[in-house]
Parts: sequence; C-alpha cells; structure tokens
Amino acid sequence: MNGERCAQITGWGMAVPERVLTNAELAKVVDTTDEWIVSRTGIQQRHVVASEKESTATLATRAARTALRVADLAPTQLGLVIVATATPEYVFPATASLVQDALGAANAGAFDLSAGCTGFIYALSIASDIVRSGGAEHVLVIGAETLTRITDWTDRNTCVLFGDGAGAAVVSACAGRCGVQATVLGSDGSGGDVLILPAGGSHTPTSHETVSSGGHFIKMNGREVFRFATTIVPKATEAVVEKAGWQLAEVSLVIPHQANIRIIESAAKRLGLPLDKFFVNLERYGNTSAASIPIALCEAINMGQVKAGDKLVLVGFGAGLTWAAAAIEWGVPTPVKPQPWPRRWFANLRFALATVRSIVRRVERRVYNWAMGPVRKDDWRGRLRQRIDRWWGHG
Ligand code: UT7
Repeated sequence: MNGERCAQITGWGMAVPERVLTNAELAKVVDTTDEWIVSRTGIQQRHVVASEKESTATLATRAARTALRVADLAPTQLGLVIVATATPEYVFPATASLVQDALGAANAGAFDLSAGCTGFIYALSIASDIVRSGGAEHVLVIGAETLTRITDWTDRNTCVLFGDGAGAAVVSACAGRCGVQATVLGSDGSGGDVLILPAGGSHTPTSHETVSSGGHFIKMNGREVFRFATTIVPKATEAVVEKAGWQLAEVSLVIPHQANIRIIESAAKRLGLPLDKFFVNLERYGNTSAASIPIALCEAINMGQVKAGDKLVLVGFGAGLTWAAAAIEWGVPTPVKPQPWPRRWFANLRFALATVRSIVRRVERRVYNWAMGPVRKDDWRGRLRQRIDRWWGHG
C-alpha cells in the first residue's frame, strides 16, 4: 500500500448531555438494583438528554465541531457527511442533512446510515473507500444517538442499558501506509426481531394501537444478543486483523462496542488477549449504540492511549443483526496541539455564521413562498404583484 492514497482519521470529537442518570436513580423507577446492573453489565451511570433542545442532531453537531477543530478543517472542505444512527431526528430528512446545514458544510452531500450499534464502523468503511478512491478529500463520519427517547422506562430489561451521546471523526486523504487498513462488514437479517423498534416504519405504521402497546420502544431479547455478541466480536476481530495482514499480538488497542463488560471480557478470553488491551468506558456512558465506538475512540486518544504507529481494531455488533470491524494504523501524532486562540476564534465565528446562514435561508424560503403564494387580485399583495409583473413586462 506504500505511496498509495490512504484514508486516515485526522479529527475526532464527542458530545454527551450534561444530565447523568445513576443506577441508584433508576432503582427508584424500576425493579432493579445498582448491584444487579453493575455485576451483569458493568454500567454505573449514563448521560441522558434532559431538554427538548437536545437531540441526535444537536449532539452530532457538537461532536462534529470538535472533530473539525482537531482536524483544523473548514466545514466547506467536507465532501460528505454520514450520520450513523438508530435514533434519527426524523424518518426524513436525514439527520446528516441537518448537521451539514448546522455546520455550514456547503459543499457536502449528506446521508444517514442505519446499521444499529455497528453503524459507525459501516460509515467509517464507506468514508475510507470514498476517500481512497478520490471521491472526496474529507468525509465527516458521526455516530449519534438519543436512545433514551425510545426507551421504555418501565422495562428493566432495556432501560438500564442505554445512554445518549455522539462521536465524530474526520476521515481525510493521506499518502503512505496509514489510516484504515481493512474493514469487515457483516449482517444476518434472520436475527432482525432480536433487537427491534417494532412500530413507526412502513411495516407497522404508528397508530393509537402501536402507541398504547409500546411499539415505539426498543424491544430486545438480551440473552440472544449476548450469545451473538460473544461469538461475533472475536470472529470479526480475527477476520479484520487477517485482512490487514497483521498478527493479533501486534494490535495495540481494541476499541469494542461498549454494551456489556461481560461481552468484552469474553472476547478478550476467546482471543487470548489481556483485558487491558480493550478500551472500556461503558461504566460512565452505558450503551450509546452507534455513538459508543467513536466516543470510546475519542476518550482513548484524549487519555493518551493512542499514539502514531499504533495498530487499532474497532469492533462492533448490533441490531440487524449486524457486525463490523476496522483495522486502523494510527497516523496522526497525539496529543494534538491546541489551536492558537485566533484560529479557535475564527473557527467559532465560522460556526456562528453557519447558524446565521441557515436562518437567513429559512426566512428567504418563507418570504418567497409568501410572496409567490396564491393571492387575490384585489388585496394589496395582488396589486403589488401586478405592478411588479407590469414592471417586468409580464403584465
Ligand atoms: O448494542 C447491542 C444491544 N444489546 C446488548 O448488547 C445486550 C446484550 N445482552 C446483555 O447485555 C445481557 O443479556 C443483559 C444485560 C441484557 C441481561 O443480562 P443476563 O445476564 O443475560 O440476564 P437475563 O436476561 O438472563 O436475566 C436474568 C434475570 C431475569 O430474572 P429471572 O427470569 O431469572 O427471574 C431477569 O428478569 O435478571 C432479571 N433482570 C433484572 N433484574 C434486575 C433483567 N433485567 C434486570 C434488571 N434488574 N435491570
């Protein structure tokens, strides 16, 4: 691969809501205990959205802004924005389009990607292929979720597991052997019903019945997902390591999907790797689905656990059922020097201008629709329109 065009992560960022929900607080609303949650999952707390102003798009935008600052990149340099999420802002438009607008990424295409908790690695794989093939110089990949908005707070089987957050990575072209070396993607749709949001799609549209039966909440067969995960995480790790031409012993750090410490311990055992080669932060965030791996990557870098030349494996599994892994040779020196204040200030100004631009475009659209909408000839708008038409020679 030497001398070839590669794709590497040059910027990273994360965002979580301020509100922390502890196990003790959950034990007041459902029949559970801190002891059960910690011993069966490893989770101690999770961050949850607490205001209407927080959503998947706002968390994604915050994480993306940090990633762009780290990459020292203007939003207009992005060619594509991909948001991996199971909790999009709407069915349509894509959350990625809203993030693209909020960032002022005026030259970027945008789409959402649905692959459950595996979504971020799927998106990273697509981004790296697009960058390597010359389709774009810079692609922004985001995993963002507000799972607590689709959580049934009376179901102790699921409500203790999930949290909200977002993680972002800028994938940029580079020369030489660095960046994403290999990815493996997998799916087994026969397990689709094991982890599902039953209602609200074209199969079972939202109705009074679906709402009263809780069809708009996550339904999961935890044991089945657990069994699947303990088999697929080591398999996918081995497959991607082989595809990258590495030995397992060369891997510096595995960043797994943060669902359950017992799944990670089991994978470490099956692979014959020490547990300290696995980055774990699920005790503080719970399972944030597509956001879990980019958040973990971000924290691993910020905690000094990722250095240039390191060989990383990202590995995930989730609804679909899906799984994926990425082998990355880290190419960017860490820690990244903080931007000097004028650049920081300029970057913030750019983001503020993007907000203004978005508002102006919305107002412009409203004014146009108002002015060009149906009017009666005898009201003042109709008379004004006739005058303008005469003035332009159309009347
Ligand atoms: O991102 C992918 C998304 N999902 C996952 O990764 C989930 C994977 N699965 C898991 O992590 C685990 O299966 C769980 C944490 C969900 C459950 O742990 P488990 O050891 O598989 O428990 P279980 O489902 O076998 O349930 C054992 C018992 C049951 O009681 P009975 O039937 O034995 O009397 C449950 O009702 O634990 C009970 N239980 C609870 N007890 C207290 C289930 N949830 C709770 C709870 N608090 N929150």
